[in-house]
Amino acid sequence: MTFIPYGRHHIDADDEAAVVAVLRSAFLTQGPATQAFEADLAAYVGAKYCAVVCNGTAALHICMAAMDMGPGEGVTTPNTFVATANAMAYVGLTPVFADIDPATLNLSPTATRAALTPQTRLIAPVHFAGLPADMPAFAAMAADRDIRIVEDASHAIGSEYVGGGRVGNCRHSDATIFSFHPVKTITAGEGGAIVTNDEALYQRLQIVRSHGVTREPGLLTDNPGSWWYEQQMLGFNYRMTEMQGALGSSQLRKLERFMARRQAIVARYRQAFAGLNWLVRPPETPGQTVCQHLFVVQIDFDAIGRTRPQVMAALLDQGVGSQVHYIPVHLQPWYRETFGTAAGQQPAAERYYERCLSLPLFPAMTDADVEQVITAVRGLV
Ligand SMILES: Cc1ncc(COP(=O)(O)O)c(C=O)c1O
Repeated sequence: MTFIPYGRHHIDADDEAAVVAVLRSAFLTQGPATQAFEADLAAYVGAKYCAVVCNGTAALHICMAAMDMGPGEGVTTPNTFVATANAMAYVGLTPVFADIDPATLNLSPTATRAALTPQTRLIAPVHFAGLPADMPAFAAMAADRDIRIVEDASHAIGSEYVGGGRVGNCRHSDATIFSFHPVKTITAGEGGAIVTNDEALYQRLQIVRSHGVTREPGLLTDNPGSWWYEQQMLGFNYRMTEMQGALGSSQLRKLERFMARRQAIVARYRQAFAGLNWLVRPPETPGQTVCQHLFVVQIDFDAIGRTRPQVMAALLDQGVGSQVHYIPVHLQPWYRETFGTAAGQQPAAERYYERCLSLPLFPAMTDADVEQVITAVRGLV
């Protein structure tokens, strides 16, 4: 029996060749491959500018740092990886959680509006599992106020918003970030990107990702000679390598293929699990292009008389890996200790967490793998 993990990358010979070509070239960092990846990504999502960095967390961090956030408050969803809220804490914002909409599993606009205070500086929706959050609603509440919007699209490259337009076009936000961790839809090994239509923000991002230093003649305040560089703000070294950039561009060329395979697997799962009254399938999105990153079901563990660890063990016995996305961030010990968050504050996210389980979903799954998962899940009862 083959073991099927909940997610994994897919690398072809041309991905390998792209990385090897860079290894044999003059640039291992700060060269043409990362610049090409930036251009490719901006063109694909339909944004004007793109800055790539070493991972998605760094993208969140420098995006908020370049926006001069903090002190103040940032509103986000509890149903995300800790990185989204951690980035707020890095820049001195207090993370404020607003509950999810159980119908979409995304940050609820109603809960977000209720969480706004005069101190709110930022809203960071996450397109959970690949389904875009309701960006026009967030844009409307940020309009006329000094509130910036950063989309965490770590799960959502390839997806389209309701009504069309690719995730990352930033029509309703200041910037959008992506992650290229191996479990994501396309990978650069590790990697991240910020896309934006705001030229001034883009210039600051380039400086902040590289120590706060610039050599750009047009941006210098002094210019005594060609050797001159200038630190204009406190920055970091979050640069992406050329090997990552080459892999990222090569993977981006396969995104449509990866997406089609993901969509086919999702359609088969949906059909196979339709009749199970103890299992809720992911939100339905008729007519909307969604590149689903995770296939998250909600299981009524009481109804089937098994706990989640027992279910995960039973699936593992059948060669099927599974995972939990996510433990609500406000329940993490550091958040409780630092910001006084507590159980009971985000009831929809907490209820969802009690029931959620991510099943395998990745483009290299064969039809036999998909059927193995379906048989294992159906066999739970
Ligand atoms: C929603 C979300 N935000 C941020 C991140 C952080 O990305 P990275 O692992 O590339 O730092 C991840 C990935 O783990 C994620 O899933």
